[in-house]
Amino acid sequence: TVFFCACICALLLAAALAIGWYIRDSLKVDDFNQKHVLITGCDSGFGNLLAKQLDRRGFAVIAACLTEKGASDLASAASPRLKTLLLNVTDSESIKRAVEFVSAEVGERGLWGLVNNAGRSIPIGPAEWMQLEDFTKVLDVNLIGVIDVTLQFLPLLKKARGRVVNVASIFGRLSLVGGGYCLSKWGVEAFSDSLRRDMYHFGIKVGIIEPGFFKTAVTRVDLIEDDQRRLWDRLPQDVKDSYGANYFHNYIKAQNFSMGVLCSSDLSKVTNCMQHALSARYPHTRYAAGWDAKLLWIPLSYLPSFVQDFFITLLIPVPKSEKI
Ligand SMILES: *[C@@H]1O[C@H](CO)[C@@H](O)[C@H](O)[C@H]1NC(C)=O
Ligand SMILES: *[C@@H]1O[C@H](CO)[C@@H](O)[C@H](O)[C@H]1NC(C)=O
Repeated sequence: TVFFCACICALLLAAALAIGWYIRDSLKVDDFNQKHVLITGCDSGFGNLLAKQLDRRGFAVIAACLTEKGASDLASAASPRLKTLLLNVTDSESIKRAVEFVSAEVGERGLWGLVNNAGRSIPIGPAEWMQLEDFTKVLDVNLIGVIDVTLQFLPLLKKARGRVVNVASIFGRLSLVGGGYCLSKWGVEAFSDSLRRDMYHFGIKVGIIEPGFFKTAVTRVDLIEDDQRRLWDRLPQDVKDSYGANYFHNYIKAQNFSMGVLCSSDLSKVTNCMQHALSARYPHTRYAAGWDAKLLWIPLSYLPSFVQDFFITLLIPVPKSEKI
């Protein structure tokens, strides 16, 4: 009976801790309507949905879009309180203009939230198919862009003791594909970790979002495939031969299959994490979004490299050289 009592006590304690944690996790900051949030990459995908979602929750949203059309479509789908601006994160002058605009909007309150969401994935493919500029195109937007935007907005964030929310990816934990995308996301993870520690004593909190596979422009297989055709077609014949004539087709088929099986169309799983990072009294450091991230990719990222290699190479077709 002593053992039985101990078991009951342990269960009760675990339940109490779980309830306590749940309550603590649900506590919110006050006065959403006094809080300004700038989101980059609001033309489509997570950024677009988050802008509308935070707008409905009462935040003062400033949505940065790359294109005029993205900005006007979003403005017509949101409340008149939502402001849009044009921002190209690879252009420091464009960021500077955004800082001036936001500075005038927020006044002495400062900027509560910066969501570094803008990103691109193309070109994706085997490293051997790439040239240097294929890497830098992606790194310029996904990593250097995030750093430039963050540095330029830090004074406004410091004023509000605000939050930076960086969209990394499970690709920032596992290099599942070649090209600049995984590199850029590993970089976002590292930048966010050091930023969090550097800004801790100034009251700035940094959240990292790690989505799994979701249906956005980043995972559009038709666009990825079109660009991969460009990479493949320009390869010297002997390199193509080393993969075999059917390789390109098999590669696209495997890519279509894994994206088709894995991609979720419920983007709110990601935007709800972003909203928690901005509105919770005690935000998390990392948010894994999507069942594939939580149950497959993040656990796999903790396993030894040889286990990762075994699983990840299963997803890629085997080259069949005609020359050997
Ligand atoms: C963004 O800025 C870069 C660097 O100034 C420029 O090369 C690029 O064309 C711009 N992109 C768009 C869509 O305006
Ligand atoms: C891959 O998917 C795209 C878009 O759905 C389709 O156009 C293409 O034909 C598919 N390719 C293969 C090899 O299955």
